[in-house]
Amino acid sequence: PVLVVDFGAQYAQLIARRVREANVYSEIVPHTITAAEVAERAPSAVILSGGPSSVYEAGSPELDRGILELGVPVLGICYGFQVMAAQLGGEVAHTGRREYGATTVTLTTEGGPLLAGQPAGQTVWMSHGDSVSAAPAGFTVLASSPSTPVAAFGDDARRLYGMQWHPEVKHSEFGQRVLENFLHDAAGIPADWTSDSVIADQVARIREQVGTSRVICGLSGGVDSAVAAAIVHEAVADQLTCIFVDHGLLRQDERRQVEEDFVASTGVRLVTVDAVDQFLDALTGVSDPETKRKIIGREFIRCFESAADALVREAQADGEAIRFLVQGTLYPDVVESGGGSGTANIKSHHNVGGLPEDLQFELVEPLRALFKDEVRAIGRELGLPEAIVGRQPFPGPGLGIRIVGEVTRERLALLREADAIARAELTAAGLDAEIWQCPVVLLADVRSVGVQGDGRTYGHPIVLRPVSSEDAMTADWSRLPYDVLARISNRITNEVPGVNRVVLDVTSKPPGTIEWE
Ligand code: XMP
Repeated sequence: PVLVVDFGAQYAQLIARRVREANVYSEIVPHTITAAEVAERAPSAVILSGGPSSVYEAGSPELDRGILELGVPVLGICYGFQVMAAQLGGEVAHTGRREYGATTVTLTTEGGPLLAGQPAGQTVWMSHGDSVSAAPAGFTVLASSPSTPVAAFGDDARRLYGMQWHPEVKHSEFGQRVLENFLHDAAGIPADWTSDSVIADQVARIREQVGTSRVICGLSGGVDSAVAAAIVHEAVADQLTCIFVDHGLLRQDERRQVEEDFVASTGVRLVTVDAVDQFLDALTGVSDPETKRKIIGREFIRCFESAADALVREAQADGEAIRFLVQGTLYPDVVESGGGSGTANIKSHHNVGGLPEDLQFELVEPLRALFKDEVRAIGRELGLPEAIVGRQPFPGPGLGIRIVGEVTRERLALLREADAIARAELTAAGLDAEIWQCPVVLLADVRSVGVQGDGRTYGHPIVLRPVSSEDAMTADWSRLPYDVLARISNRITNEVPGVNRVVLDVTSKPPGTIEWE
């Protein structure tokens, strides 16, 4: 792999993704990794990420110098560039001047594989305080900017390169090209990591792990579990059975998409547990958000376990065993961040709608090395329905946490309709790509006066909560076009009985969360 050394902030994940976009497999490692550990993993190249620190600060993250002496090609970016300069005998100046945002760099040489074939002046994205003021011995200065005489350097003989700007950021005009030049030309790494190769590789691993045992997988209707199941099915066919719990809190058409479209496109054997009554009974009279979440989580596990038990008994009757459970764990959930303290970058959200860790099965996690967009690409490659592969995030507790107040059958029906209208209109307006997700929330305990036809109405408001986000940890409310909002509002108030008002949530996260409960 290409190892991306994480010096903190959000840069390492972005770099890792861009490397993969160049069809080269990459992994993120903490900056505390030693040269021996790097050597053991035999990387084809190392990229040092940017980070928020200054090399002059006490306790700023360091790098084992031996990493630069392994003979492995290295690219240092921003902070990584400065660390490299400092370690190899160059000079880093604490100028006190910050350069932030778009700036122009001028290439100072034509040679070298890193910047080959690029225009002499180009817009790049910078964010730094310190600057490299003198390149280490053996290095050629490749570019400069108004405030940085040494904006990039390289040593072709040792295949060591660095740049002050962020090639992984889209605002750097030729950023992806720089990364590709480094990977393919300087480091000589072929562009052979593709959806096809990932699938082939995972299929082989799954076969090896699972052998002849049977396997089960819980489907949620979302992209991760669907793609995980599809790959496992590709590997072991009918040794896999999927379990889908209909808890009555799904959106319109979701059950059909799983039972018909997903099954038709994969041939997966599916068991649906119709638990609608069980969930609604358990939720009767409950309006506290945390209590709702607990009940939904508990009932989900009960349903899943009893369905799994039935399959275990069925297997036993056939003289077989179920040893494995498929999980759609993704790379961002497992990657360790090196950010200063070296703390794990694990999403702290309690994942209601997930399974406990102490199930009696070994895990099969075919997506553990992948980012979400890669999972979608693989899902498409496997021919899964677009409605599932392209689905935006939807919480495990479903519509149950989008009804503020008690969850009832009637309220669910109403919310389902409003949600379907909002989703259809957003899709029709071509806005799916810029919206992270758009919770549609029913304020069941609030009523307001309205007028419709000749009569007074006393109905419930629906809240639209469209947000843009990179990772759901922070979010901003989406500035949707007014005409789209108007269409959604008109349709919901006209078509959904009991709703006489549509309001827009204009709160960022923080302080608001994305969901209302
Ligand atoms: P909040 O509301 O905390 O949501 O800003 C962040 C993201 O997590 C999703 N979410 C959940 N996903 N089980 C899940 O699988 C849950 O219990 C859950 N609660 C919130 C939410 O939709 C958003 O994408």
